[in-house]
Amino acid sequence: MKGVGAAAAAGLSPGLRAAQPLSVLVMGGTGFIGPHIVRALRDAGHRLTLFNRGKTNPGLFPGLELIKGDRLTSDIEQLQGRRWDVVIDTAAYLPRAVDTLMAQLDRDSLQQYVFVSTISVYANFGTPDIDESAPKEVLPEPESEDVNQYYGALKFACEEAARGALPGRVLTIRPGMIIGPGDPTDRFTYWPVRVARGGRVLAPGAPGDTIQTIDARDLADWIARCVGSRTVGEFNATSDTGVSFGEMLGACRELVNPDAELVWVTHDFLLAQGVNEWVDLPFWVSPEGELRGAWTVNAERATVAGLTHRPIRDTVADLYTWWQAQPAERRASLRAGMSAEREAEVLAAWDQRPAAAATG
Ligand SMILES: NC(=O)c1ccc[n+]([C@@H]2O[C@H](COP(=O)([O-])OP(=O)(O)OC[C@H]3O[C@@H](n4cnc5c(N)ncnc54)[C@H](OP(=O)(O)O)[C@@H]3O)[C@@H](O)[C@H]2O)c1
Repeated sequence: MKGVGAAAAAGLSPGLRAAQPLSVLVMGGTGFIGPHIVRALRDAGHRLTLFNRGKTNPGLFPGLELIKGDRLTSDIEQLQGRRWDVVIDTAAYLPRAVDTLMAQLDRDSLQQYVFVSTISVYANFGTPDIDESAPKEVLPEPESEDVNQYYGALKFACEEAARGALPGRVLTIRPGMIIGPGDPTDRFTYWPVRVARGGRVLAPGAPGDTIQTIDARDLADWIARCVGSRTVGEFNATSDTGVSFGEMLGACRELVNPDAELVWVTHDFLLAQGVNEWVDLPFWVSPEGELRGAWTVNAERATVAGLTHRPIRDTVADLYTWWQAQPAERRASLRAGMSAEREAEVLAAWDQRPAAAATG
């Protein structure tokens, strides 16, 4: 509860309207985390302008000013000379997207630039306790704009571009895995949906293995509070304590399908079967693998700055409600996780392992 204490000490009151309404430009705002941030800022009483192409969820916020354009083209010039107190940028993946934005804005009036980065900026997930000072990814080809290949390095280059343009006024947020209603990736969604299907559910590793997540709404509420308090600096943003895989899957069973049976299969067995960490079973990382530090990221600084987390069961409940409301064609094929056939194959091999035969 130290996070709540720090927020109170800083004069912040989660959920209350901001003492001073600010003009805020949101670059993006209509995808996954953007809408949650827009709602949190709007509910706090700030005056919002959105800049996006009007392609993703058009018409989502009819009451807000929308400047329509592609930020990677001359459309960005529509922002020339406009003044905002705060800019929230959820949608920059290339440093030139930050540079061109900075070139347009009236920087004298800008008090805070909130850049949503990622923990993928860190170069080495083979080590535990990654804090904000850990080594960062470096672009091997300085001119590359290949976001698929160099996502982390390019996000860090964006950060550096922002800090270079606005020294002392940048809040850099590096979220871990963001989960919750509206998640387009289906990585976390795989689990409640799999449990809903029922039968024997392949559960990786052991129930006590920890994962780290952040609900998009907790991230949004914290960003809104950081705007109110003009917080700057670099922050990992994920759950500081994490949650166990067993607790997460237990919440899925309890809320979605208590008849599903969890079958815990050891890391070694999964690896021997050629199951791909993370890809085949989202959120699974093996204790010996390159990603073993992914669930021990140090989020102490954000906790002290007031980031709090709702219980995982609340996220599971709301995510599954959202999922059920999606159109049938969206629900027909999950975008993450292994197929039912492959899962059955691995479970059959697990049942036939020598140790099972000996005890069976
Ligand atoms: N998902 C995770 O687990 C995770 C983890 C760590 C960090 N992150 C970071 O979190 C952020 C996630 O963002 P989000 O997609 O949820 O944000 P969002 O703000 O909700 O959606 C992206 C916005 O960008 C706009 N946009 C896209 N291309 C544009 C362009 N060329 N010009 C102008 N606007 C453009 C889209 O609208 P239009 O298409 O209509 O233009 C949309 O409004 C990213 O910065 C990502 O690096 C994600």
